[in-house]
Amino acid sequence: MPAKDIAVIVGSLRKDAFSRRLAKALQALSPAGLTLEIVEIGQLALYNQDLETSPPAEWIAFRERIKRADGVVFVTPEYNRSMTGALKNALDVGSRPYGKNNWDNKPGLVVSCSPGNMGAFGANHHLRQSLVFLNVLPLQQPEAYISGVDKIVSESGEVANDKTREFLTKIMQAYEGWANLLAKR
Ligand code: FNR
Repeated sequence: MPAKDIAVIVGSLRKDAFSRRLAKALQALSPAGLTLEIVEIGQLALYNQDLETSPPAEWIAFRERIKRADGVVFVTPEYNRSMTGALKNALDVGSRPYGKNNWDNKPGLVVSCSPGNMGAFGANHHLRQSLVFLNVLPLQQPEAYISGVDKIVSESGEVANDKTREFLTKIMQAYEGWANLLAKR
């Protein structure tokens, strides 16, 4: 069976984002049955329904990329107790035009992170609220709220402590199991 093609959406546009480091760590720790590719969102124009008459090329390419993915992993920091505006914009762009929701039915994984103590719980759950409407099917357990992310993942995505490395590995294994289960429907 070929490896599943998993799109990874990083919620931060910052060049040295901790969430991007974490996404790299997830790539490295994924089981062989999944291929994770970061799909960029920084080039997407802010969603404006008027543009649907002639959608920007970046929207079209993004929609096609999401549509062909076998699943989606969201790695998001928290802005003001919610997901970032960039991530919400990507969700909106991918959800349209009306009746063509490109996120529909994808097995999802939500991993939130913060240099602070609460692991971006607010972002994680606001994102899950949108995923309900978009009919993305996120893994429920284990949940992933990564606190102190600035101290545990290096620039190249190496994880500094065994406990976190084991946890991230376990998350990716659970996600693979979830994606395989949904594929059997
Ligand atoms: C933040 N930050 C933040 N952190 C947090 O844990 N909860 C929050 O609600 C917020 N709110 C917030 C708003 C805005 C506008 C900014 C710029 C930052 C801090 C945030 O966790 C920190 O900047 C991270 O480094 C952002 O993630 P990346 O860019 O490193 O992935």
